[in-house]
Amino acid sequence: MEKALRPMHRLLVTGGCGFIGTNFIRYLLQDADFDGQIVNVDKLTYAGNPENLTDVAAQYPQRYVFEQADICDSEALKRIFDRYSIDSICHFAAESHVDRSIVAPDAFIQTNIVGTFNLLELARAYRTRLVLFHHVSTDEVFGSLGDHGAFSEDTAYRPNSPYSASKAASDHLVRAYHKTYGLPVTLSNCSNNYGPYQFPEKLIPLMVLNALADQPLPVYGDGQNVRDWLYVRDHCTAVWRIMQRGRAGQTYNVGGGSEMRNITVVEMVCDILDELVPPQNGRSRRELITFVTDRPGHDRRYAIDFTRIREKLNWQPEESFASGLRKTITWYLDQRWWVERVKSGQYREWIKQQYH
Ligand code: NAD
Ligand code: DAU
Repeated sequence: MEKALRPMHRLLVTGGCGFIGTNFIRYLLQDADFDGQIVNVDKLTYAGNPENLTDVAAQYPQRYVFEQADICDSEALKRIFDRYSIDSICHFAAESHVDRSIVAPDAFIQTNIVGTFNLLELARAYRTRLVLFHHVSTDEVFGSLGDHGAFSEDTAYRPNSPYSASKAASDHLVRAYHKTYGLPVTLSNCSNNYGPYQFPEKLIPLMVLNALADQPLPVYGDGQNVRDWLYVRDHCTAVWRIMQRGRAGQTYNVGGGSEMRNITVVEMVCDILDELVPPQNGRSRRELITFVTDRPGHDRRYAIDFTRIREKLNWQPEESFASGLRKTITWYLDQRWWVERVKSGQYREWIKQQYH
């Protein structure tokens, strides 16, 4: 272990209504050794759904607070910092979808770069009481690999999409605030997450829902691109471990040790669904697979060397890809209400009633 536990009592979580932020807040309140208060700051973009946390909000009224705010709005952030005497930050909020960044990069620059800068400036202003600023980032900052090798923390940054370039910029800012101002920061660069509450624009939930609806399963290019997959709960335990014990100024790569070709992932989704929900027409859902035009600048392969977090912080993923994928698909089958509300955008009406 590198460092003693950090005393964090009033934790600001940004982007807590998104996929990973939701899972992280649920983990901290329900299972982790954390007994402080969480203030969840989320703008509620198309990807943010506060209904994900309705049950924990009711269960932990003293320990969980939601504030709808944009991390690009410095004044709003300052009010929240003052009101709740924030002493630590876990920064998830981002525009996160590569395809959207190709079509409309503006919001990625604003939220991922300017928003992170605002948070850092605020952290600097409140430096005396700040215990930690943890920045959640991605393996995509390292670019694309050939057939061999893996990204280490020392791999040079070579981002290829507007999304990954904006995340790379934010990583550099976080690191610079540590070097220049001595801000207590930690960073994590993680591979592809999957699991409950993921918005159905990402590969796995998109394929599950399309397959259930008997719709085509669009695989980009030749389907041979490789991603390393990590069950979201394992990402949450890694982030919390780093926040508690990671060395200030240090970056940690986080991965699942589960490299898979996209086509294999989609075939596995089809096979598990065929088993759990036998198709009415008797035909394998694999027949829905359709190869479509490739994503521009599509990174060929990601792989993560997570030796540092394994050896220094004694963390490793618990879920295998096969078991995690089955759990995930079962969750989507069991939570059809969530799927229907997200697909129809009904939770937006609920947001209006609750917060406006
Ligand atoms: P997501 O898109 O599901 O959620 C993002 C959340 O941020 C949403 O709730 C959204 O409303 C909120 N948000 C967006 N802009 C905001 C703004 N300006 N102010 C306040 N809130 C705002 O994303 P995710 O998949 O949960 O990713 C979370 C973080 O983890 C991101 O920083 C992403 O780069 C990183 N990451 C994701 C993965 C992955 O596989 N999903 C892997 C590695 C790293
Ligand atoms: O590696 C970490 C990154 O993983 C995170 O930083 C991003 O926030 C997250 O969105 C994810 O990025 P990807 O681009 O890898 O994820 P996505 O689910 O969009 O795509 C996974 C792979 O599947 C990728 O090679 C593109 C391919 N794909 C995706 C979609 C949506 C398809 O073939 N068809 C599709 O319809």
